[in-house]
Amino acid sequence: MTHPAVELDGIWKRFPGVIANAGAGLTVRPGTVHAVLGENGAGKTTLMNCLAGVYRPDEGHIRIDGQEMIFSSPADALGAGIGMVHQEFRLVPTFTVAENVVLGAAPPIIDAAVIERQVGDVAARFGFEVEPDRPVWQLSMGERQRVEILKALWRDARVLILDEPTAVLTPQESVELGEVLRRMVADGRSVIFISHKLDEVVSFCDEATVLRSGETVSASIAVADVNASELARLMVGDVAVETVPIAVAIPGDPALTVDNLTVRDARGLLAVDGVSFEVRSGEIVGIAGVAGNGQRALTDAIAGLEPIEGGTVTVMRTDVTTAPPQRRFAAGLAYVPEDRLGVGLAPKLPITENAVMREFRTLRRGPLLNWASAREFCDRIVERFEVKIGRHDAPLAGLSGGNLQRLLLGRELSGKPDVVVASQPTRGLDVAGVRAIQRLIVQQRDEGTGVLMVSEDLDELLSLADRILVMNAGRIVGEFNAREATRTQIGEAMMGTATEASS
Ligand SMILES: Nc1ncnc2c1ncn2[C@@H]1O[C@H](COP(=O)(O)OP(=O)(O)OP(=O)(O)O)[C@@H](O)[C@H]1O
Ligand SMILES: [Mg+2]
Repeated sequence: MTHPAVELDGIWKRFPGVIANAGAGLTVRPGTVHAVLGENGAGKTTLMNCLAGVYRPDEGHIRIDGQEMIFSSPADALGAGIGMVHQEFRLVPTFTVAENVVLGAAPPIIDAAVIERQVGDVAARFGFEVEPDRPVWQLSMGERQRVEILKALWRDARVLILDEPTAVLTPQESVELGEVLRRMVADGRSVIFISHKLDEVVSFCDEATVLRSGETVSASIAVADVNASELARLMVGDVAVETVPIAVAIPGDPALTVDNLTVRDARGLLAVDGVSFEVRSGEIVGIAGVAGNGQRALTDAIAGLEPIEGGTVTVMRTDVTTAPPQRRFAAGLAYVPEDRLGVGLAPKLPITENAVMREFRTLRRGPLLNWASAREFCDRIVERFEVKIGRHDAPLAGLSGGNLQRLLLGRELSGKPDVVVASQPTRGLDVAGVRAIQRLIVQQRDEGTGVLMVSEDLDELLSLADRILVMNAGRIVGEFNAREATRTQIGEAMMGTATEASS
């Protein structure tokens, strides 16, 4: 009889004020892709951190190929064939792909050309496209993820854990990842795949295990026997997930005006090339496009995080082209960046401090923060955005991925902004969370806020936005009325194949 590749049994993991895993179990057969599902905060990442040696479980058993194991570090787990790709990548930006892949793996190989060739060979075996001699800082998120996966494969991981890998991928990259995963399991390895995108689970995975409040509620379901909505029901219990009702927008005056904006990226290339548009009060403008076509430089430049080379940005009649981020905020702009921990949140500071960061001026008493009001403000966000937190004074870093996202959105939307610029606002949220955030964005619009929303999810843009602008190679190449446009029309504009952009 062959043993399961992984067996987790009765795993408990407690943090101050929270039980993350309450006797959870998971059995993964060799040669399969196994999905781990559950709402935000259900305990998925914690359970995987226990398996990958990041945490020692308080109780429970870990068996690998039938052998009881106790891991005291990630290196230990990797030695037993368990590799994990975390939600935040851990790469050295100035090193090349090959250097990052072999970093820390003994024995050191001196000759760059030799390791580049060897890394290239491993990549080719699994059908990865990478350039081993490129420095990592030049790579897209999807390419960086491949480097992380290669790191694990280089160390001959037999079990690869991927925590929401497709959250940072374009739809096309996600399909490619699915193919790589199938190739890995064909080779006898196993993959544990965490995702909130249930249609991906249905197309890539063999089996699924569902966690709820730290417990396993459905173990090893054969994915071939279920569809995405049945999986959703297993995750949230028997509550119907409502769709978001959307009335027709009544746009007012311009809230955000971007005129002939030009921005250069770190490599000195034109990332935004003469872009002009307006977002009016009470409308949602979506930016569609394949990732890496200047969306990030555009939103960062509007928020004041990227220097502007030419053109102007105006928020509610105030020219903020050269203003620092705080002045833009004071002028009425809120920003939900793509990289939540990079510029949006401070992981080491307590949850309350992160929640009130924007409101420091209104919540202070003398030179100090008024803690009682700060706590109240934080609680309002927690309640309205259904953020699951343990203690208020715990560092933000302890929140689950989806809960971080809810807190950031809550903070940005609570300041009653005139303009919200949001990048991928529903990324990493569970099914109910996506609906909740979408509802709040529409509500914000109906209260008169102008919303600029960047998303790679065309269906999301088509259902939420009033107008859709398509970005390609740093330019706006099409404008569509979201109520009338079709996926095909927008898709063609995104690929730069449309003969003529309609409006
Ligand atoms: N290091 C930590 N310190 C304190 N609490 C933690 C820590 N890690 C996780 N938690 C808590 O444990 C619970 C489970 O979190 P976990 O990250 O495992 O959820 P998840 O299922 O991965 O959710 P998501 O889908 O949002 O990523 C959450 O309530 C979280 O706040
Ligand atoms: Mg998680």
